Amino acid sequence: MKVPLQDLARGYAEVRKEIEEAILGVSASGRYILGPEVEAFEEDLGNFLDAPFVVSCASGTDAILLALAALEIGDGDEVITGPFSFFSTAATIVRLGARPVFADLDEETLAASPSEIRGAITPRTKAILPVHLYGQPAAMDEITAIAKEAGVAVVEDCAQAIGATIGGAKIGAWGDIGCFSFYPTKNLGAMGDAGAVSTRDESIDRRIRMLRVHGSEDAIEHPIIGINSRLDSIQAAVLRIKLRHLDKWTEARRIIARFYDEALTGLPIRLPTRMEKAPSVYHQYTIRFDARDDLKDHLESLGIGSGVYYPLPLHLQPCFQELGHTPGDFPQAETAARQVLSLPIFPGLTQAEMEMVAEGVRSFFEKS
Ligand SMILES: Cc1ncc(COP(=O)(O)O)c(C=O)c1O
Repeated sequence: MKVPLQDLARGYAEVRKEIEEAILGVSASGRYILGPEVEAFEEDLGNFLDAPFVVSCASGTDAILLALAALEIGDGDEVITGPFSFFSTAATIVRLGARPVFADLDEETLAASPSEIRGAITPRTKAILPVHLYGQPAAMDEITAIAKEAGVAVVEDCAQAIGATIGGAKIGAWGDIGCFSFYPTKNLGAMGDAGAVSTRDESIDRRIRMLRVHGSEDAIEHPIIGINSRLDSIQAAVLRIKLRHLDKWTEARRIIARFYDEALTGLPIRLPTRMEKAPSVYHQYTIRFDARDDLKDHLESLGIGSGVYYPLPLHLQPCFQELGHTPGDFPQAETAARQVLSLPIFPGLTQAEMEMVAEGVRSFFEKS
């Protein structure tokens, strides 16, 4: 028996009938980009997120780009974010001509730590961009308080944490704008690329709606320059169906996480921190261990998939060399990059597979 890190085909099998019907419906409708299905998805997602305004777009990367562009972030501006995330969190900032200013990690959440964020604020700071990594909410109460004090915006990277809450309030609604990715492996995954932004501000909603269609409202006049980041109707139809299952799938992830928590307790590895007020939606179940690569090889030899997100922190990426960072600048991020290992966690993972994963990890320590 083998245990994959991910199995999207298994997830599809559960909703296959509903999705096939929806895709056939869109195929026959003749509306393939934006249109009624996309509008209905935006409304459904707004209800799910408790957000009055949702604008869909072509990817999570575009969601962040559109959010920052809507805040008119550009040349000479600084955006504070964590150095340990998916590449596009920082690349979107640079794409707009602004500078990512990294704040080292909070050890518990692995998002930028509030005290480091506070220390990174300068007169050029325009926004703070916290990432809810692996499904674990960042410390939004502290981060939004710092932003308010400094008079800067907050854009939440919610790509990995849809549905997560802090004190019962959904992420995405804590800051000025929430950015979501529906990349197929995400907790809510499309069958291709897709993304969305959420906001409580009607003027931001309007600006992002323009920006995603070349900066125009009527396709005649272009008051601003935007991009093409429209959502396909088929993706919207797929996402509408999957959204109805999301709470159940999040619960399935939490059950697996609880199993791992118990089964791996007592080993010399660091398990994900459990935060009662801000429970994770476990996009990843990520353990930390110094000899991570050896453990990964061991699991692979047993047929167990595992993943490293992310082996190289953002401040050390070759394309950001101009920022002038060197190893040692963000020790928490660099240690995390050396230690993290994500284990299989997805709805549909069987009890036997979970046991095999836990046994596989335990056997590494018995062997050594
Ligand atoms: C934290 C984070 N931010 C941004 C993105 C970008 O999303 P996408 O791949 O949909 O462009 C992703 C996912 O890939 C992500 O995990």
